[in-house]
Amino acid sequence: MSRTPIMAGNWKMNIDHVEATGLVEKIHYTLVDKDWDPKKSECVLCVPFTDIRTVRTLLDGDRIPFGLGAQNVSQHDNGAYTGEISTAMLKKLNVGYVVLGHSERRQYFGETDELVNAKTLKVLGAGMIPIVCVGEGLDIRKAGEHVEYTLNQVRGALAGLSAEQVAGLVIAYEPVWAIGTGEVATPADAQEVCGAIRGEVASLYDGPTAEAVRIQYGGSVKSGNVVQIMDQPDIDGALVGGASLQPEEFAAIVRFYQ
Ligand code: G3P
Repeated sequence: MSRTPIMAGNWKMNIDHVEATGLVEKIHYTLVDKDWDPKKSECVLCVPFTDIRTVRTLLDGDRIPFGLGAQNVSQHDNGAYTGEISTAMLKKLNVGYVVLGHSERRQYFGETDELVNAKTLKVLGAGMIPIVCVGEGLDIRKAGEHVEYTLNQVRGALAGLSAEQVAGLVIAYEPVWAIGTGEVATPADAQEVCGAIRGEVASLYDGPTAEAVRIQYGGSVKSGNVVQIMDQPDIDGALVGGASLQPEEFAAIVRFYQ
């Protein structure tokens, strides 16, 4: 597979800027101990806004080859939008990735497919890589409508994007019922939807674009299940919540390959 696996930690609303230094260092030391090769798996940390400056300085100062991501961004450029953070502000801190449309933002902050699409275009326009999250809730899964529901979110998020833009982005399939519950989708469940997402990109765009886009699975990923998940042909990485706060566990996830 020519796609480089991308293992991203989503710290969510955890870890202040003081705690961040220790966590990043411990993840890095553990990976160095495990002979991690960043060319074989990319490590990205998606941290709270208030940690970005600290983590950036640490990564640059110690030459730690991790990507840095934010967990959200405004769809507006600048101006009277109290409490918002712009793509230009993130770009200035050399942020490379932005998580968009996470199910928690859709559920608690009313983010729609249209808004996720607007933010995706904004992030791409600023030269950063969106990690676009999609995935169904339990009721939809039980009704057997999970594939169509998720593909609909994908179509919404990608509206108006060029093939070149889609080829460079990351799509994270995170079934809501598997997030933070310990309830992991089976590798076959995850592959079913990730394969369908790649197929949808092929029909919306073309084969080379579908081959290039990276698709992550997220939902209770741990060191004990990452290998089977990463073994699936259409899964190119993981978006990790709880386990990304445990340095040894997260390092083992990043260094998943044999
Ligand atoms: O974005 C990551 C995520 O929502 C999965 O969380 O705690 O189930 O790994 P967790």
